[in-house]
Amino acid sequence: MRENFGSKLGAVLAAAGSAVGLGNIWRFPIETGRNGGAAFILIYIGCIFLIGLPVMLSEFVIGRSSQANTAGAYRKLAPGTQWKWVGRLGVFTGFVIMSYYVVVAGWTIQYAWLALTNQFAGKTAEDFPVIFSQFASNPWQPIVCLVIFVWLTHYVVVKGVTRGIERWSKVLMPMLFILVMGLVIGAVSMPGAKDGITFLLQPDFSKVNGPVVLNAMGQAFYSLSLGMGALCTYASYFNRQTNLARTALNVCVIDTVIALMAGFIIFPAASAAGYHLQSGDIGASLLFITLPNVFQQAFAHLPLLSYVFSLLFYLLVILAALTSTISLHEVVTSYMTEEFGFRRSRAALVETVTCMLLGCICSLSFGPLQHLKLAGMTIFDLFDWTSSNLLLPIGGMFISIFVGWYLKRELVRGELTNNGTLRVRGLRVLIFILRFVAPLAILGIFLNQLHLF
Ligand code: PHE
Repeated sequence: MRENFGSKLGAVLAAAGSAVGLGNIWRFPIETGRNGGAAFILIYIGCIFLIGLPVMLSEFVIGRSSQANTAGAYRKLAPGTQWKWVGRLGVFTGFVIMSYYVVVAGWTIQYAWLALTNQFAGKTAEDFPVIFSQFASNPWQPIVCLVIFVWLTHYVVVKGVTRGIERWSKVLMPMLFILVMGLVIGAVSMPGAKDGITFLLQPDFSKVNGPVVLNAMGQAFYSLSLGMGALCTYASYFNRQTNLARTALNVCVIDTVIALMAGFIIFPAASAAGYHLQSGDIGASLLFITLPNVFQQAFAHLPLLSYVFSLLFYLLVILAALTSTISLHEVVTSYMTEEFGFRRSRAALVETVTCMLLGCICSLSFGPLQHLKLAGMTIFDLFDWTSSNLLLPIGGMFISIFVGWYLKRELVRGELTNNGTLRVRGLRVLIFILRFVAPLAILGIFLNQLHLF
């Protein structure tokens, strides 16, 4: 008997836990800053609901109807065809993303530790870049953090679906939400926060061009965990009563709200600390260089507040990243359990150890291996680039084609309506999007990433 999420809430929170992660808290503000603020956000929201939601529904349909891991799902739904490669590609992508994601996730452990032990106190804007580069290039410290993070993930995954993933998501997601709320209130009430708020609310459409639109779409995919079977695997644990459309809508809303809230923490706090929002200041090292400095400067006269703010913030990022790595891990673990007959604990161990090893290599590419480059990229950058710019869009495109063109319409309708017991509107529109809009739009992102546009 296959395990199921025990409750509707459990299903929503597990899927939302996968979606909400470093993509929301770290990548979304960076992209927003780079792409001009409010106008980018509007386009991003459009992409989430117009393309992300239909592709998410497709993954749900594939996962729940097959009741199998992502590779097994295509084997069952399209026996004797080459579609199984889409599933296998997803498993491979899971390995790749997990291996570099845990490096950044590990850094958040170190930063939570620095915050806890009050080591940011009294530091100036000049100190933070040094702290970060010394830490990231150190050969062993980030690896210790990474190993701790992978073990945390392993611990939850080994417990299984109901007692591990569902139970932890139910605890971690509400905690995360409360923490984010508190931080938003803190950030927007800082003196000088107004510029940051305006930046997020007043669209300037003159800044919108092709790449901005395409970046918004890419971010939507990444943030919703689409294109590699993470949500397909989770959907295989949904029970027969789960309303797929409502669950997908909830996940999209939660993911978007948390990304926006992350923006409302970071931009107001950054403007309060005197950063120029459109300059490179709010750049790639946002989470580890800009932000700790923001917390320090913004509460220069209230050291206790800056202590609490920093500590809470890094704890929150750890939680968000953890519920995402759990889903990445589960894709591979369920694959090995079901396709090769491994015991769950052993399958998880194989994934854990492999990711640790690959993660170490990614981590070392900030230090001793920084000169080792393939196609002009360090190993970390190569993993990041290939997975988010290549593997996820390709996966997402095939998923929408599979459900839009290959699967029988009755099967899709049956899944979405729970065999006729639910009324679901807009099925035709959905199929149209899956057949034409989503694949073409994704092809667009893809060509853009390859700089063919
Ligand atoms: N959506 C996750 C995040 O925002 C990342 C992720 C991508 C997780 C793909 C699983 C699969 O951090």
